[in-house]
Formats: sequence, C-alpha cells, structure tokens
Amino acid sequence: MKAENNCIVIFGASGDLTHRKLIPALYNLYKIGRLTENFSVLGVARSELNDETFREKMRNALIEHEKANGAMLDKFCSHLYYQAVNTSDARDYGKLVPRIDELHDKYQTCGNTLYYMSTPPSLYGVIPECLAAHGLNTEEYGWKRIIVEKPFGYDLKTAHALDIQIHRFFEEHQIYRIDHYLGKETVQNLLVLRFSNGLFEPLWNRNYIEYVEITGAESIGVEDRGGYYDGSGAMRDMFQNHLLQVLAMVAMEPPAIINANSMRDEVAKVLHCLHPLNQEDLKNNLVLGQYVKAEINGETVAGYLQEKGVPEDSNTETYMALRCEIDNWRWAGVPFYVRTGKRLPVRVTEVVIHFKTTPHPVFSKSAPENKLIIRIQPDEGISMRFGLKKPGAGFESKEVSMDFRYADLASPSLLTAYERLLLDAMKGDATLFARTDAVHACWKFVQPILDYKAERGRVYEYEAGTWGPTEADKLIAKAGRVWRKPSGAMKKKV
Ligand code: NDP
Ligand code: BG6
Repeated sequence: MKAENNCIVIFGASGDLTHRKLIPALYNLYKIGRLTENFSVLGVARSELNDETFREKMRNALIEHEKANGAMLDKFCSHLYYQAVNTSDARDYGKLVPRIDELHDKYQTCGNTLYYMSTPPSLYGVIPECLAAHGLNTEEYGWKRIIVEKPFGYDLKTAHALDIQIHRFFEEHQIYRIDHYLGKETVQNLLVLRFSNGLFEPLWNRNYIEYVEITGAESIGVEDRGGYYDGSGAMRDMFQNHLLQVLAMVAMEPPAIINANSMRDEVAKVLHCLHPLNQEDLKNNLVLGQYVKAEINGETVAGYLQEKGVPEDSNTETYMALRCEIDNWRWAGVPFYVRTGKRLPVRVTEVVIHFKTTPHPVFSKSAPENKLIIRIQPDEGISMRFGLKKPGAGFESKEVSMDFRYADLASPSLLTAYERLLLDAMKGDATLFARTDAVHACWKFVQPILDYKAERGRVYEYEAGTWGPTEADKLIAKAGRVWRKPSGAMKKKV
C-alpha cells in the first residue's frame, strides 16, 4: 500500500540522521513505488542552505549511501526543498507557512503534513510549540503528525515533562515516537513466530522456559558521537528503549486482533509488570562496564576515555548486564538476562529462549538444553538447538541445530527499519511506534537503575573486543549459567 500524498517537514535537515537514514529511506520508498508522485520534503535547519544546495547535499549522500544514480535520482531530488529557520525562535516559523502552503498546492497534498524532529532532543518540546504558534498543528485541513526521534526524555521526570509539553499542541494520535528497533523486520517476525504457530505458544511460559537471554552487542565504539553518548550511556542509549521493546515483544500476551491499540495495550501491560528493582536487587543483578584500550586483530583500539568528546574522567557505562523478572502469571520466576555494550567482539542482536531440560537425564549425565535462538541482526534467522544421538555405539547425545535464515525469504521489497516506519507514519499506522504509557513504563523501570548508578554503581573496565567485564560472567554464573557468545553469522555454529 502506498503512502498518502503528503509534505514531509524534516527539522534537523542539515544533520547526520537526515542524510544517512531519512533521505535514503524516502528515496528507496520512492524507487519501489511506495510514495506517490505527490510528495515533497521540506528540510528545515538553521544552516543557510537553499533548495539547490540542499538537493546537492542530499544527492551526494544518496550516491554515497545508496549508490543512487540516473533519472530516478534526479526525479527524487526534484521533490526536495529547504527553508532556513532559527529553530528555537517561534517568530521565525512564520517563514514555514507560505513554503508549506506552496508545497501543498503544487503537490495536491490536501494539507497532509508529517513533521520529523531530527534535532537535538532539547528542541523536541520547543518545535511543537513554535508550529502551534502559526497554526501548523491543526487538522482542519489535512492530517498533521509529528515523529519524535529518540531519546524521549532523559529520565522519568523529563520524559513526563516532554510528554506534557508535546501534548499541549499535538494529540496522542498525532504523535509517533520512533524506536527504530520496532521497524526491524525480525523484531516483527518475533510476533509472527509466537502468535501464528501452535507449536511455540503452549511452551512460551514459566512451565517450559528456564530463562531468556537478550543481547544487543556492537563491535563499534562510540565513534564521533562521544559528546552525545557520554550524557547517555548504554542504559539510556540502548537498554531503556530498544532492548526493553524487544523484551516486550518476547514476553507480551497475544493481542486479540492486530491493530495499533490492541498491540500497544499488550506491550504496555508487560512493561508495567517488570519487577521493580531496589538497591539490594541491583547490587546483585546489575553490572556496568566501560571499554579500555586493547589490541584487536593487531590494531590498537582506543579506550572509551580516549574517544573524541569524552571527558577523561567519565564514569559513563558503555556496557550493562541486568537480570530482571516479570511479575505476571506467564513469567513469574523466569529470569530475563539482558546485556548490551559497545566494542564487544561482534555486532549481534539476538534473543535466546532456554527451555527447561528433561526432568531426568536418561542418556548422559546431563540432558541437552533446548534453545531457540532468534537472531535479530545481522544474518537474521532462527535456530532451534536440541539433542540427537551421536552416531555410533551407545546412546550419547550431542547438540544439533535446525536453522532458518531470513535471507532465504527476503524479497527485493524488504523494507529497512526507517523505510517501514516512515511509510507507516505516512499511512497513519502507529502500531510500531511507542505509545506514551509504554515509554513511561520503561522509564519507571529504569529510573531506580539510573539512581543506583548515580549513587553507588561501580563501572568495571573491560578490554575492547571482549564480552564485557568478568563481573557480568559472575552475575549469570550465580545460577550456574553462562552467557552465549554468538559469532557474527548464524550459519557458523558456536
Ligand atoms: P546532528 O547533530 O547531526 O544534527 C542536528 C540537526 O539539528 C542539525 O541539522 C542542526 O542543524 C539542527 N539544529 C537545529 N537547531 C539546533 C540547535 N539549537 N542546536 C544544534 N543543532 C540544531 O544530529 P543527528 O542527525 O545525529 O541526530 C538528530 C536526532 O536524532 C538526535 O536527537 C539523535 O539523538 C537522534 N538519533 C540519531 C541517530 C543517528 O544515527 N544519527 C540515531 C538515532 C537517533 P543547524 O545547525 O543547521 O540548525
Ligand atoms: C541507536 C543508538 O539508537 O541505535 C546507537 O543511539 C546504536 O548508539 C544504534 O549504535 C544501534 O542500532 P542498530 O540498528 O545498528 O542495531
């Protein structure tokens, strides 16, 4: 289904996200026919660009990131426009009114407008107010939607304040809080795997599942985002949003029907059931780490404190591992081990469901563990691990696997996360966007962890290129378990 005719106004159009993700996503949607000819993009930022210089900048980005060329590239770029605005001065937004009107007329977009806030987060409360000062938020003529980039707040209090601020000018149905993990095909596939197969659902509970591991590992460091990252850390950057959303997909109840509200009701419900962690729980169940200089494949890699924009005495965590539980009938007593970090050995996001073993091992000293590994990225796929007889005499069992690689299904029209989410926002489908109650529940769970860290959370060192501090191994070893150490590719057995 195509997007509706509309004008997309991107605030922060001279920035990194716009040229690296948003414009390429729109280009690809256009290329595969998901945008009508009646769309336009109005870039907005303080930089003194004009339509021509903005087009040139975006054209170069598309050539670099998408290997775009030819008539398609020219045609797409002709839909791009730019208006310089002082983004924190409401009066200056007056310049947007004639520009947006002109684009609606030219492209017959019936007043439909999608605003995208891709600016520093300090402006997420300011932009809606400035738009409202010129009536650019009202839905008398066409719909008005606003996409809010992450981070949505800095903690529970600021997230709440931001919500109030945006709600003063936009209603909840107009607000699209983006979490690009929800746009990932394999995250959505988790739902299909769970809810469309009779095989898994009866086993998906505390009776059959021993524990769940969720890993969001990155091999890169903070690169040139040290300034931003130091005020954020792994907890705010990855855990509070992306990984808790993945956890919710693993743990939520099946919605009665698939629509934005019923799906988001179930997500919010399970996030509200996260067992609140007190100081004592955190002492035993949380490990924070920071990478230090090391040699990887013969090359010296800088430690976090040597990264550009990072204060030399920073205590920001680049790694965290947490054991948590969900207080409901399905999950009571089942540990969820969640970890994320920068400069780990490989880039991999995966969920591992560890099933309970047989009550009595018949064939060997210990029965093989059954695992379902859901690989979110890269090399997306699903692997079922179970025990079979070792060929030859006796009845010794060994672990074997049945693997499915998502690439085998992929069609050329598979959408990337930003493509999918932009298209959904243009269609008015908010299913894959975080609702206010879910964001609030995530912050409510994370706030005590942030407080604990601020007061007494020790940040352990780990060498770049390793699987985090040894304390994280001890955390999971308390229950006689070990972290899975995945390789980069699904097909290679580890
Ligand atoms: P950049 O710093 O590269 O860009 C910020 C943009 O905001 C620029 O276009 C800047 O242009 C504009 N801007 C407007 N007003 C101000 C102001 N008062 N101060 C500073 N800049 C201003 O950021 P990114 O593009 O990387 O990120 C944008 C948002 O998206 C951030 O909130 C970030 O957290 C989020 N995000 C980014 C990701 C990424 O991969 N880059 C990933 C996920 C989220 P000008 O100076 O011309 O006004
Ligand atoms: C972003 C974080 O939201 O997600 C980055 O700010 C992180 O620090 C990125 O690298 C990871 O996204 P992906 O899609 O590469 O797993």
